[in-house]
Amino acid sequence: MFKAILLNKHGRGLEARLAELDESQLPEGDVTVSVECSSLNHKDGLAITGKSSVVRHYPMIPGIDLAGVVESSSHPDWKCGDKVLINGWGIGESHWGGLAQKARVKGKWLTAIPEGLSPRQSMAIGTAGYTAMLCVMGLERQGIAPEDGEILVTGANGGIGSIAVTLLAMLGFTVVASTGRIEESAQLKALGAARVIDRQEFSWPGRPLGKERWIGAIDSLGSHTLANVCAGLKYRGVAIACGLAQGMDFPATVAPFILRGITLVGIDSVHTPVEERKEAWRRLAKLLDPEKLESVTQVIGLSEIIPKADELLSGWVRGRIVVDVHQ
Ligand SMILES: NC(=O)c1ccc[n+]([C@@H]2O[C@H](COP(=O)([O-])OP(=O)(O)OC[C@H]3O[C@@H](n4cnc5c(N)ncnc54)[C@H](OP(=O)(O)O)[C@@H]3O)[C@@H](O)[C@H]2O)c1
Repeated sequence: MFKAILLNKHGRGLEARLAELDESQLPEGDVTVSVECSSLNHKDGLAITGKSSVVRHYPMIPGIDLAGVVESSSHPDWKCGDKVLINGWGIGESHWGGLAQKARVKGKWLTAIPEGLSPRQSMAIGTAGYTAMLCVMGLERQGIAPEDGEILVTGANGGIGSIAVTLLAMLGFTVVASTGRIEESAQLKALGAARVIDRQEFSWPGRPLGKERWIGAIDSLGSHTLANVCAGLKYRGVAIACGLAQGMDFPATVAPFILRGITLVGIDSVHTPVEERKEAWRRLAKLLDPEKLESVTQVIGLSEIIPKADELLSGWVRGRIVVDVHQ
């Protein structure tokens, strides 16, 4: 038997509960993982509260990432005892996910936990941190370098935002952190932000073109924020769009594209090719200071997840939430 968060639909209502399940109920897959940790991401909050249709079928165990040890495997790349993690590939959406003590998955979805990281640290990074790394790599692919100018990070106190601030600062970029929680400025500066600004100035409809301010931006909010971020990019600047915490809309004009030659790059962490994942995780293990990671992490147990999901969606959780599935 193992414990898990189980989501079920009854008519139009969603039930989320802590359940005891039998291993025989696990879905098909060629690797069984004894899960040590998972994490609570924005998408898990949407799945658990039912606020958005993230889950494709029920019953479902949510959790879009996990870290643990291979218990049994018929996949040629993995053997019993290997330390592994998963981000995305549809776990917690269309295949039972990580908010459980056991998972059965496809071996091709697994990534080895990089040398130097524990399962807990890898989930403190989790999907948000791994996505933040993909965003930084997106800026680099467009040729943006530290000497080119400032980089804006929106939602800076969130999971993606706080790790993006940390990674960019470690790489020598000058980071401007935008947040609704100005009272957390000291914490954002400790992570490496050079300046902290109030998100209010981006939250509402703005002008098609603003003053040229940043050469790059990592945005996890979408909506008016992304439109205003694009309008404030310098000539040939690059905005990375990776989220929709404010909204899915993008009420922008083509002005910054055709008058300033800006580039908008999208990031999808769910189906990122394997080699790019390995590169992202290798760099995360090398770049992230464990103390800084710890400073933005809280650990909860399986029984605390359901109320925490509401808190996460309200935008008041700072940094990352690791779930110790045995706590
Ligand atoms: N593209 C991908 O593959 C991928 C991967 C992971 C996540 N995502 C998406 O990225 C987004 C952020 O994920 P996350 O894990 O960082 O979430 P998170 O930890 O919940 O952080 C989101 C942050 O956004 C800000 N925020 C929240 N609601 C807002 C609103 N209504 N208006 C303006 N700002 C708001 C808050 O930051 P402040 O307090 O600093 O203002 C909040 O901490 C989500 O939409 C998520 O689904 C995408």
